[in-house]
Amino acid sequence: MSSNIRTGIVLLLMLTVLPLKAVETLDVSLEKGQLLLTPRHGGDGSAWGNENCSACHFSRSIHSEAPVIRNIVREVGFSTCTGCHGSNGTEAERKCTICHNPQRLPTAPIMTAPETHDFSVKESVPLNDRECLICHHSSDMDGVFEPDIDLSYFPHAQPALDLPYRSGVEFCLRCHNKNDQQPGYEMQARFPRDPLVDMDVNYQHYDVHGYQRGSGQRTYTGLRSGSYQYGDLLECTDCHAMHGTHNPKLILDRTDAGATKLAPEIRNLPVLINVVDGDYSQLCVSCHDMNTLVEQGAENTGNGLSGVHQFGTDCRQCHVHGMAVQTGL
Ligand code: HEC
Ligand code: HEC
Ligand code: HEC
Ligand code: HEC
Ligand code: HEC
Ligand code: HEC
Ligand code: HEC
Ligand code: HEC
Repeated sequence: MSSNIRTGIVLLLMLTVLPLKAVETLDVSLEKGQLLLTPRHGGDGSAWGNENCSACHFSRSIHSEAPVIRNIVREVGFSTCTGCHGSNGTEAERKCTICHNPQRLPTAPIMTAPETHDFSVKESVPLNDRECLICHHSSDMDGVFEPDIDLSYFPHAQPALDLPYRSGVEFCLRCHNKNDQQPGYEMQARFPRDPLVDMDVNYQHYDVHGYQRGSGQRTYTGLRSGSYQYGDLLECTDCHAMHGTHNPKLILDRTDAGATKLAPEIRNLPVLINVVDGDYSQLCVSCHDMNTLVEQGAENTGNGLSGVHQFGTDCRQCHVHGMAVQTGL
């Protein structure tokens, strides 16, 4: 091979590699936690406002750095692009359930039961792309759930507290509060101290599962070993399922759809949770397991687990959000 031809090959290689290099200076990457296209798309903005992704991109040559989604994007095709990368300055739909459905991604999230966080207490409809986007405007889909990236940003009314979320709790409370609700998602209290609008006060000042610390010194004390500890802040989604449950008030119906810190050998069974007429025992017993057995502490609550002081009765007289007497929630 003459040196001229060799130089030619090297030049040719450089020409084909250079455009790829440009990616490093652009906006989209997992490293930045940012997938949405910006008006600079194409390097100089020439590709902004264009719906037809397949005109310039080949599925084979993209996503070498994104192993979690590489294959599923190739399989489902070009109708997925705007879901993750945004509408590129067009009116193109952003689809989610095209991939996130019980057939393709059965556990991410678990979505088979009928009661969902559909932004209405009255109705109950299956979640669709519109609802997904309200809560997950720009997830990075790296297979790890990070509240500050994977949950939509809603501003906090106090500038000093308008910071990235440190937990999912902060996300929920940006809407579920009385005085600074988000435009378009206003809620009315249905009764005094309704958790719909009083949850920020409850979680700040009353709820043992909230910012208050439990004592761990009570008559029925005890948590399942290797799981939660006294002093922990619980996520709202430890007890409430956003994506589907058969229980009222969006109470979890299986431990693997919430209760994220539960020891995997119990969480992944999963323990099933059925709530009837205010009997929350099967929920509570997923995490609580009293050390010194008294009252009904030794008896099976009906889902295989025992360890709470009552079951088969209405717990709400003593355990609801925002309760200052008894021990509340
Ligand atoms: C007219 C051609 C063209 C069209 C149409 C086009 N792109 Fe691009 N896109 C480019 C070019 C050129 C780049 C620059 C990087 C490169 O060379 O791959 C790019 C880069 C990207 C990047 C990386 C951007 C960054 O800032 O890091 C993403 C993601 C992307 N395109 C997605 C899409 C999606 C989704 C669509 C359809 C909505 C689309 N593109 C349509 C030409 C196009
Ligand atoms: C499930 C989410 C998801 C979907 C759907 C998706 N992408 Fe991506 N895309 C990513 C991620 C994550 C990255 C960043 C990878 C990295 O850090 O380099 C990326 C990066 C890119 C890049 C720039 C870097 C590279 O890998 O070439 C282009 C171009 C791109 N995507 C085009 C597309 C096109 C075209 C489609 C539709 C066929 C599409 N993407 C669909 C998640 C997605
Ligand atoms: C009311 C807000 C809300 C809505 C609506 C919502 N999510 Fe979520 N999603 C969350 C929260 C909070 C988490 C983290 C806690 C958890 O896993 O439940 C989450 C977690 C996830 C996860 C990762 C955890 C897992 O179980 O794998 C995926 C994937 C997901 N959501 C997809 C979706 C899709 C798809 C939709 C629409 C069909 C949707 N979400 C609708 C709030 C929401
Ligand atoms: C963007 C605002 C918004 C966010 C964020 C939000 N919610 Fe809601 N939530 C609502 C609205 C609106 C309703 C319906 C109120 C009504 O119908 O009066 C609702 C209803 C509920 C209900 C009652 C549902 C029922 O069917 O009984 C629960 C429980 C709930 N939300 C918990 C949560 C949790 C937990 C989070 C965080 C993971 C969260 N919400 C995040 C706006 C929001
Ligand atoms: C091409 C298929 C595809 C499309 C389209 C898609 N996703 Fe995903 N998404 C995935 C995969 C795969 C994962 C990783 C799941 C896992 O953990 O196994 C994921 C993960 C997630 C997560 C969990 C957080 C994380 O960083 O992993 C959320 C939240 C999520 N997607 C929301 C959405 C929303 C909202 C849309 C629509 C705007 C959407 N997805 C569109 C494939 C897709
Ligand atoms: C997902 C796990 C989980 C579930 C489900 C759960 N708890 Fe708890 N509970 C905890 C943790 C962790 C603490 C300690 C919190 C702290 O110290 O800040 C706690 C603390 C408490 C306390 C205060 C104990 C003390 O020492 O001060 C009471 C009372 C309580 N829970 C009652 C309940 C009731 C009633 C239910 C069912 C409606 C329930 N819990 C469901 C994990 C859970
Ligand atoms: C330890 C489990 C647990 C945790 C953690 C938890 N909840 Fe609840 N939540 C319940 C139970 C049980 C009920 C039903 C009892 C009642 O009426 O107060 C309930 C009721 C609600 C309701 C009323 C629903 C309706 O339709 O009437 C809302 C809204 C709510 N919770 C929001 C939240 C938010 C927001 C968070 C986090 C800031 C949260 N919850 C944390 C267990 C929990
Ligand atoms: C008449 C009031 C009352 C009713 C009804 C009631 N509880 Fe309790 N519960 C309490 C009191 C009081 C405590 C705290 C005892 C203490 O401070 O020593 C408690 C504590 C608990 C704890 C926390 C254990 C810990 O970690 O300290 C759990 C779990 C619990 N109850 C579950 C239930 C369940 C499940 C029901 C309904 C089936 C229920 N309770 C009904 C009064 C009640």
